[in-house]
Amino acid sequence: MKDLRGKNAVLTGASRGLGPYIARALAQEGVNVALTARTADALEATVQEVSALGVEAVAIPMDITDEAGRKRLLERARAAHGPIDILINNAGIEWICRYTDMSSEQIEHMVQTNLIAPLILSRLVLPDMIERGSGHIVMMSSLGGKKGSPYSATYAATKAGLIEWTSSVREELRGSGVSASVLCPGFVSDAGMFAVYGKRAPRLAGETSPEKVAAAVVHMIEHDIAEKIINPGPKRLLDITNAISPTMVSWILRRFGVYEFYRQQAEDNQQNRPT
Ligand SMILES: NC(=O)c1ccc[n+]([C@@H]2O[C@H](COP(=O)([O-])OP(=O)(O)OC[C@H]3O[C@@H](n4cnc5c(N)ncnc54)[C@H](OP(=O)(O)O)[C@@H]3O)[C@@H](O)[C@H]2O)c1
Repeated sequence: MKDLRGKNAVLTGASRGLGPYIARALAQEGVNVALTARTADALEATVQEVSALGVEAVAIPMDITDEAGRKRLLERARAAHGPIDILINNAGIEWICRYTDMSSEQIEHMVQTNLIAPLILSRLVLPDMIERGSGHIVMMSSLGGKKGSPYSATYAATKAGLIEWTSSVREELRGSGVSASVLCPGFVSDAGMFAVYGKRAPRLAGETSPEKVAAAVVHMIEHDIAEKIINPGPKRLLDITNAISPTMVSWILRRFGVYEFYRQQAEDNQQNRPT
């Protein structure tokens, strides 16, 4: 989709973290945005900010794990702006802990939020995009979806699912004018679910910025990029090498403290578990 000016996007996870950065990057390209998350006042703040950039913006608070809420979101987005050209499935949750410390309900909730909701929202927008011969879906995955880390098993499973969904659907949609991309950031500094820990990532893992993630979302849509890893460190190369030797890459990540970082965070989280 070469020219994004005047296109209409739906962005999930727009209340905090990376979402507001993505909303700003889209608005700077002239994209109208329907912003969603559960926290209405935080969404309103992003709406005010991006409206000042001269695009139309609307806040549609809802829970993406709720089927009726998903349908309402898309109806309201279409009513506000017209046909949906771009869907960015950015919302996601992570909780670093021992796998056996997660209840069945917590596992199911993470899978619903990170995997089922993006797949269903995509299912709901695709028929109209295909009929109009134009549209783009972006899945926000993670480096964790390329190589799972200990204490992050459910998260890794959901993020790997998004990568393979995108690979499958892109081929299915080839020639239709509609496409999909998947983005895999490593640890992001300054904003988002890793930044709230207030820690530096292990050196081998490296950190990227929310601005770079947001710019990559726009770039992937404009140039129809299938998959992109955003990570400055050598871990990026390791994740590629993982396809050849997962055992060797696990050894390196263990040896250079990346897995120890997860173990310590799981221990810290143990003090502060969600119910
Ligand atoms: N930050 C990183 O280091 C990093 C690295 C790799 C990948 N990612 C991915 O990037 C995406 C954004 O992460 P982030 O760092 O911005 O996380 P974040 O700061 O925790 O924000 C998560 C966003 O998702 C929304 N959300 C969560 N559950 C929801 C639900 N049930 N219904 C509707 N909205 C929901 C939250 O809004 P409400 O709570 O208001 O609903 C919030 O806007 C995620 O998919 C994450 O996996 C992040």
